[in-house]
Amino acid sequence: MFSTTSQLKARFDKAFTTAFGENLAGTDPMLTAASNPNFGDFQCNAAMSLGKKLGKPPRAIAQTIIENLDIADICETPEIAGPGFINLKLKPAYLEAQVRAMAIDSRLGIAPTETPQKVAIDFSSPNIAKEMHVGHLRSTIIGDAIARILEFLGHDVIRINHIGDWGTQFGMLIAYLREVHPEALTTADSLDLGDLVAFYRQAKQRFDADETFKETARQEVVKLQSGAEDTRRAWKLLCDQSRREFQVIYNLLDIKLTERGESFYNPLLPAVVEDLTSLGLLVESDGAKCVFVDGFTNKEGEPLPLIVQKSDGGYNYATTDLAAIRYRIQEDGAKRIIYVTDSGQANHFAQVFAVARKANWIPEDVEIVHVPFGLVCGEDGKRLKTRSGDAVRLQDLLDEAIVRTRADLETRLEDEKRQETEEFITHVSQVVGLSAVKYADLSQNRASNYVFSYDKMLALQGNTAPYMLYAYVRVQGIRRKGGIDFDNLDAGAKVILESDAELVLAKHLLQLNEVVNAVGGDLLPNRICQYLFELSQKFNQFFEQCPVLKAEEPLRSSRLVLCDLTARTLQLGLGLLGIQVLERM
Ligand code: ARG
Repeated sequence: MFSTTSQLKARFDKAFTTAFGENLAGTDPMLTAASNPNFGDFQCNAAMSLGKKLGKPPRAIAQTIIENLDIADICETPEIAGPGFINLKLKPAYLEAQVRAMAIDSRLGIAPTETPQKVAIDFSSPNIAKEMHVGHLRSTIIGDAIARILEFLGHDVIRINHIGDWGTQFGMLIAYLREVHPEALTTADSLDLGDLVAFYRQAKQRFDADETFKETARQEVVKLQSGAEDTRRAWKLLCDQSRREFQVIYNLLDIKLTERGESFYNPLLPAVVEDLTSLGLLVESDGAKCVFVDGFTNKEGEPLPLIVQKSDGGYNYATTDLAAIRYRIQEDGAKRIIYVTDSGQANHFAQVFAVARKANWIPEDVEIVHVPFGLVCGEDGKRLKTRSGDAVRLQDLLDEAIVRTRADLETRLEDEKRQETEEFITHVSQVVGLSAVKYADLSQNRASNYVFSYDKMLALQGNTAPYMLYAYVRVQGIRRKGGIDFDNLDAGAKVILESDAELVLAKHLLQLNEVVNAVGGDLLPNRICQYLFELSQKFNQFFEQCPVLKAEEPLRSSRLVLCDLTARTLQLGLGLLGIQVLERM
């Protein structure tokens, strides 16, 4: 099954060459959605620029194009409008055949890519001994959606959790725990993450205030780096502790990641500095080893260095990222490397990428991108915080979504006088609550800040997960009521598109392929949300206007196919966003 635009493009390309010669092969037909649906579905805007190029009036060019355009199996006779627009209206018979092709395809018309790539996606990446915060939540949700989309398109994706598990802060923490809570360094589970975070804070205060303690902490770092056994064991215990708590969130959200934290690259850091030295890129400044790249300046407008080794010999966050780039390219063989973090790290990545480019570590055929996202804000429009001003714990935030969903559900069940089992209520609350959080995040253009509002994300109306899930549930209701076997139906039924609502729904369904492929390129999952939202709206209009179970055959079967195709599209689309559907809710 080919997308309509790609078929139209091919036909136009042929027309251009027969009409104007081979040298116009590959001319962009400049196809856009029709500006006014009364004129059709698409318009070709190429006659204007071709007119200029060939020195002829655009309307005459448009006429010549039409005369050479073999398109009768797809569109009604094209019409020329205004200065030379060519309007195209799709034929119902063509749409019917396309809908059928989509219905019998388990991938709903989205073919796996012909050029699969190895893709490394660096996302989630919280820090040991610190709580995961909402920024990590965004990274986790967006990164997972991008991974699912690229995996579905047939790419070979490595989902990397670049957790912050290394650095001088561990020296400080271990030195402090040795004093106040030594069991934590020898016995698993003697602290929970909350305690650990509190100790971390106290350790930091101590570090800033007390010179002797500072020195002890430094020695712990040296011991950690040289592999001293007890320090290593203490460090490992701290990591395990945090890791278990992160895993609770990942399980809840159904997120799969391969952990490859900062410590993984530790042995590779000296070579990064050596190689930069032999390339002549290193400059010493106040004892620190730096790389300068054009275009990076500080607030005062002075050149801003990327420090790869501090004067005390320690390495930086950036050094690790340079080592990671090399590893992902050389060892993983990644052709596309994607970093999902808040936009606050945009400069860091731009600078690291620039240094790696300058060192010639990024081959021509490797694409490396930072996928930034905005802040999560409270209803006051400021960075999301608890009432006491602390960062919101993710676990609390997710639990609250589930609790609120449950309250809404219980009220609804009471209003509808429905009796449901505890198991049903728990399951639905969990799925809807978590889906709502994911969807609210993904439905925004990721670059912008968004306001976190339980009321909005849990509403049954609007661009929300519950609205989408409800459309799916509606179709399952039809299936149960009519005792329909959709699999059999999809395989055999004829599709008939007569009324406006059917045509509108069918045309929208057929755009799935293009939307998903586009998101595989621009990595903007909100476009899938928008597509699914419009699909649900169009489906609901169709459902209000066209009787389904009460219709006469062959219309009844045709409409059932549209229902099922809508449901399957919702299921697939939501699945790409990491959201599962429900049979009933
Ligand atoms: N741990 C970092 C943070 O919490 C995010 C790491 C992102 N990935 C990377 N390769 N730098 O901000």
